[in-house]
Amino acid sequence: MKIAVISKNDRSGSELAALLRTRSQTGEVHIVASMSQLLAAGASGVSTAAPDVLVLDEPSIESGDLDQVEHLGHVYPLLSFIVLCRQSSQEFLIQAMRVGVREVLPSPVNADTLFSALQRIEDKRSSQAQVNGKVLAFISCKGGSGATFLATNLGYALAALKQKRIALIDLNLQFGDASLFVSDQKPLATILDVAQQIRRLDASFLASSMLNVTPNFSVLAASDDPTHAGDVKPEHIDLLIKLVRRHYDFVLLDVGRSLDAVSIRALDHADMIFPVLQTTLPYIRDGKRMLSVFRSLDYRKDKIHPIVNRHEKSGDIRLGDVKAAFGVNDLRTIPNHYEAAAASVNQGVPILKLAKGSPISKALQEFTQSLAGESTPVSAGWLSRVLQRSR
Ligand SMILES: Nc1ncnc2c1ncn2[C@@H]1O[C@H](COP(=O)(O)OP(=O)(O)OP(=O)(O)O)[C@@H](O)[C@H]1O
Ligand SMILES: [Mg+2]
Repeated sequence: MKIAVISKNDRSGSELAALLRTRSQTGEVHIVASMSQLLAAGASGVSTAAPDVLVLDEPSIESGDLDQVEHLGHVYPLLSFIVLCRQSSQEFLIQAMRVGVREVLPSPVNADTLFSALQRIEDKRSSQAQVNGKVLAFISCKGGSGATFLATNLGYALAALKQKRIALIDLNLQFGDASLFVSDQKPLATILDVAQQIRRLDASFLASSMLNVTPNFSVLAASDDPTHAGDVKPEHIDLLIKLVRRHYDFVLLDVGRSLDAVSIRALDHADMIFPVLQTTLPYIRDGKRMLSVFRSLDYRKDKIHPIVNRHEKSGDIRLGDVKAAFGVNDLRTIPNHYEAAAASVNQGVPILKLAKGSPISKALQEFTQSLAGESTPVSAGWLSRVLQRSR
């Protein structure tokens, strides 16, 4: 785990960091000057620096520290807080709970108390990590149908669910461009680097290879060197997807449009496959071919969910005709809205951020709701634990 320590007193900050470093299972420990610094890093998308735990020494209500904690909780939804305070009034505890602090410890803190709190946080994180995430694959029935646009923007929309961690893997190995749809940052590493160093693959190597679009939405980009695409093998895909789904709630795969050993291996892992098409005959023809390939691969019918993108109600081909052609009862549609989609793609800004009122954004939010279902309730145990400490 990455732990950040913030203290207004330099000496206490250094002592706390030194104490934390004596805990054997603790990963990196950093002293951070202020919460504003973390907020600024989060806002600029530099979330490789995002800590897992923030140990906050002696915050005060009067100086607005708890408001900043609340703000940090929005920017880093997966961050856990440990607050140390000399005198914790009832009012302080209630305020702390309200802004999302689950661990309020006495200051100066001893090693046992601090390490037990860290252990509780670690246990909670690993129990969450053991639940496998859902793998959702997007594949274009024909080039330019909008698979990348929908996968990346759905990733951003799902990440707005705060408590969910979202990963997107760009499997368009030769000409992948997914990261550019939602970020203007250059990825530090790509799926090619991961495949070439597959022996190093673990959670931290994976995290450092991904581009963080928001603190809980990361993209493993495709390489911009198409000549080495063949270095990524189906067995790398097995290892990669197994690892990613252990650590993320939703794993989105941008499969592109080629059906080959690598993409089929990825589709094998998918819980749901979304072939993306538009309502013109060439797309429908290729969509039917793709569905027959899926049948020959023995994929269950309820794994395949075609999406009609750029849908116009007044179009020549009616939705009923597409349903009949594909033999499905339900079809998700995403409306056509050229201006908003083009602006989003050109600027590399997710459409939900750039044009919240666009019918595409609304359709993506509905899509998100149908995938996420009910959000997870907060566990009951922490409230009594914090209150007990105030007695
Ligand atoms: N609902 C929409 N309304 C209007 N334009 C859209 C919509 N969805 C996607 N587009 C536009 O279509 C273009 C192509 O989309 P995208 O690159 O996602 O297709 P793709 O299926 O991934 O293509 P490829 O097969 O080349 O990977 C995008 O640049 C975007 O501007
Ligand atoms: Mg694409």
